[in-house]
Amino acid sequence: METNMNEKRGTFPADRPIEALTQEHTMVRDLANAYLSSDKADIKRELTPQITSLVEMHSRMEETVFYPAVRNIDSTMISHFEEEHHKVDDLLQTLKGASPDDPQCDQTMRQMLDMVLRHIQEEETQFFPKLERANLDMTDIGLQMQAFEANLVHAAAQSSEQRAR
Ligand SMILES: [Fe+2]
Ligand SMILES: [Fe+2]
Repeated sequence: METNMNEKRGTFPADRPIEALTQEHTMVRDLANAYLSSDKADIKRELTPQITSLVEMHSRMEETVFYPAVRNIDSTMISHFEEEHHKVDDLLQTLKGASPDDPQCDQTMRQMLDMVLRHIQEEETQFFPKLERANLDMTDIGLQMQAFEANLVHAAAQSSEQRAR
């Protein structure tokens, strides 16, 4: 699953950031569906860090690069999205502090996924069409998004390499 995610990330279309964001949303949806449709504890344990790291990376990239670049399209909606990110972050923090065998974990995960799935749906249906209609040249934003994620992926690989030592 991890290789697959990286392969997809390699084709991040820099000049079409909306497509890139939608691709990541699809990855989140796929992982979420796999989690929600499984009743096996070991599968859930394996999926949990994949989901949390993908959601976290996606959120940081949007907050740092994407949202500031497009805030002028609809600042109220962007503020609303940022608030939703904060709520998701709180649940991510709870998940990090919990043991994966804690039954509460599964409930927190479901709550987080429910929130995230609604959030990405809202971004795709309420905001992306608006942004597309604005007809901006998105290449610069796309390149910044790509660079931001490449740095995060690199940093994550380094820290897991250090842990393995
Ligand atoms: Fe978002
Ligand atoms: Fe998003």
